[in-house]
Amino acid sequence: MSKVIYILNGPNLNLLGKREPEIYGYQTLDDVRAQCEELAGELGLKTVFRQSNAEHDLVDWVQEAREAADGIIINPAAYSHTSVAILDALSACTLPVIEVHVSNIHQRESFRHHSYVSARADAIIVGCGVEGYQLAVRHMATRLSD
Ligand code: DQA
Repeated sequence: MSKVIYILNGPNLNLLGKREPEIYGYQTLDDVRAQCEELAGELGLKTVFRQSNAEHDLVDWVQEAREAADGIIINPAAYSHTSVAILDALSACTLPVIEVHVSNIHQRESFRHHSYVSARADAIIVGCGVEGYQLAVRHMATRLSD
């Protein structure tokens, strides 16, 4: 049976492609979803791809993934910098977790330099643009095959 990766996206990522394109680029979240699904398929993995602007949805989906998935890729967006709840949900599961940020958060405003989620993430990909998601899928495949 194929292994399953949850790819979870936080607030405002529904506006990818339209929002501050000089920072986040011109590809949409639908483009990212299609790229992840295609690559995951080639690697023999299934994806569940979701986005929400609500913190509680992300917490619920991490809890769901705990039972239903083999790994989690998450871009918590602005909640990275504020959410102990998402950190706690991730800490409650033993799955591999990869945190992705499209932009290089360390080159930006100081309030973006700290991510609560990084304390739990097994790997972090920042500043690679939306390609970061594909790098994360590829790395998750490596981790899941070990
Ligand atoms: C982001 C970086 C966050 O600081 C920001 O709030 C986002 C997107 C990124 O992917 O670069 O919404 O997570």
